[in-house]
Amino acid sequence: EKGTYPHYMLKEIDEQPLVMRKIIQEYQNEAGSVKINDDIANAVNAADRVYIIACGTSYHAGLVGKQFIESWAKVPVEVHVASEFNYNMPLLSENPLFIFISQSGETADSRAVLVTIKALGHKALTITNVPGSTLSREADYTLLLHAGPEIAVASTKAYTAQIAVLAILAAKTAESKGHSLEFDLVKELGIAANAMEALCDQKEEMDYIAREYLSTTRNCFFIGRAVDYYVGLEGALKLKEISYIQAEGFAGGELKHGTIALIENGTPIIALATQGHVNLSIRGNVKEVVARGANPCIISLKGLEEEDDRFVLPEVHESLTPLVSVVPLQLIAYFAALHRGCDVDKPRNLAKSVTVE
Ligand code: M6R
Repeated sequence: EKGTYPHYMLKEIDEQPLVMRKIIQEYQNEAGSVKINDDIANAVNAADRVYIIACGTSYHAGLVGKQFIESWAKVPVEVHVASEFNYNMPLLSENPLFIFISQSGETADSRAVLVTIKALGHKALTITNVPGSTLSREADYTLLLHAGPEIAVASTKAYTAQIAVLAILAAKTAESKGHSLEFDLVKELGIAANAMEALCDQKEEMDYIAREYLSTTRNCFFIGRAVDYYVGLEGALKLKEISYIQAEGFAGGELKHGTIALIENGTPIIALATQGHVNLSIRGNVKEVVARGANPCIISLKGLEEEDDRFVLPEVHESLTPLVSVVPLQLIAYFAALHRGCDVDKPRNLAKSVTVE
């Protein structure tokens, strides 16, 4: 039930801090470190390569998860859109592990890949919000998101839950490989949950940003580098899905290879700047579009902010910034859709779970 909320989407955005705390509780041992079924950590450990298979928002979470698994557990990862995999299969490694990410656990494109790789004799782990779902039943292992039912077509709390569970899986695998993390993941996830809560309290500001940048525009670009690029893809999907504004996410350095031709006077550019190692270069990319008339909305992380930034995110561990940077993007999309009179929870042409290939 959505209670006093006007839309499920807004309720589900607000639930994100609670979901984070629930995940911490579910995946924490008595000593306060991450806990995951040993068989699952061993399966990741035993693989020479991980293939993440997903669609839409879940695919975007997979891109973030790749960073965790590669940098912490030192296992190479490929992330594939499910609908392409069977028709354009990459050369598989000798001992792959497949990770299916799906909120619903019913997505037909992902299931088709599961059927293929099981027939080849490979192992699969499903990360899903729905226990007993098809993808969960047909895989060898399951990790649950514990996000509670997600009703709005636009996925919000499942995305952040997927990122948190992937972080925990990567940390646990790293630990069993003897590469311990340089920080306390459980503690940092708790800090991120608090930061998400603070962001959920700033709806008026997000409403304002949506009015300021998006009330009349036909299009909008999201740019970022490194993990901010992946979050930008998600911000763009959210915005286009519910507001029907044409929105695209790009790696900051790619615009000048073509897309910059679309920048006109006033074109909104939402730029994420949460990563120290690319802070200078993303700001250079913003200058390039501003010189062509773009209207920049820079969202930066505390500690990296500059004077003209439109919004500053509370500080969290640099690897967990997607958990916080996506929240304003979700809210901006929500308010943009609301201002345009769109059906926020049930956008046209879309279903909550896509059960056809
Ligand atoms: O249930 P799934 O996670 O497998 O769904 C995948 C996509 O269909 C889904 O994330 C879709 O992109 C959302 N509507 C995006 O908000």
